[in-house]
Amino acid sequence: MRAIAVLTSGGDAPGMNSCIRAVVRTTSYHGLGVKGVRRGFDGLIKGDLFDMGPRDVGGIIQKGGTILQTARSAEFVTPAGQQSALDHLRAHGVDGLVVIGGDGSMRGALALHGHGLPVVGVPASIDNDIWGTAMSIGVDTALNTIIEAIDKLRDTASSHGRAFLVETMGRHCGYLALTSGIIGGAEVILVPERDMALQEIAEAMGDAYARGKTHAIMMIAEGAKYKTTEIASYLEDLHVGFQTRITILGHLQRGGRPSAFDRLLATRFGAAAVQALLHGESGVMVGLHAGEIRTISIADVTSHPHEPNFEYYDLAAELAK
Ligand code: F6P
Repeated sequence: MRAIAVLTSGGDAPGMNSCIRAVVRTTSYHGLGVKGVRRGFDGLIKGDLFDMGPRDVGGIIQKGGTILQTARSAEFVTPAGQQSALDHLRAHGVDGLVVIGGDGSMRGALALHGHGLPVVGVPASIDNDIWGTAMSIGVDTALNTIIEAIDKLRDTASSHGRAFLVETMGRHCGYLALTSGIIGGAEVILVPERDMALQEIAEAMGDAYARGKTHAIMMIAEGAKYKTTEIASYLEDLHVGFQTRITILGHLQRGGRPSAFDRLLATRFGAAAVQALLHGESGVMVGLHAGEIRTISIADVTSHPHEPNFEYYDLAAELAK
């Protein structure tokens, strides 16, 4: 193997820079060339590759976002787009690729593997919606961002006797809402994976008020069945006791300096991805299993939906009483 390229793809995640640093430093340590690819698969198709060395990743381990930038690429799913990517990699003497990103990025990695290019994926998505790894890069930092927001909201909620409806990211996966709901002490948690009727939501909030709670927190994943505004209106109309207010956290959850956990996870993932390529692996993704890093087939990763941990859901319901 002569040179390895690295790209970040899909939604950015805090810790991507820690991972890029580990990929560049590990590759350089083993005497191989390194190419950075700007703006994910979109940049790869356009041939936006550049030389990187150990000094290019100095001072980035603590930075959120990705110095390589990222993009979502519709063109990459086309054979022409993939062929253009392969041509540019070959022209730059690249014979190994590390793809850092979410579920869609893993599918792109698998496509290039299918064309014979050695590729290893690194899971990075704050949603934690990637099957085959206990945690993805960015999740822990996003949770800390959310919990900091909940703690702040709790101050004003308790001062006014209000219920705050807090919307997290997570189009198809309720991990952020569920986990932050538990560690934030939420009364109600709504996720895409499990429906809750509006009447049931109202009863839960009314019960909380009747039990003498001075305020309430409801966590709502953006992909849940009912929109946050719809729930707020429903509760206001029913006069369940609390006044309601809405906070949509949005892209705040994607920013910020990576936590210690994410820096370590991303560093381990990046180094392990390069090692996997050096050992001749391809079409695999590094993943965290019981504290250990191992590789699993990307075909398996992309063919399994992420299963939510409903034990958390039941725990949250018990603790909200
Ligand atoms: O990375 C996943 C995610 O943060 C989802 O939770 C969210 O719905 C989506 O990305 C937002 O995508 P964009 O940044 O393209 O608006």
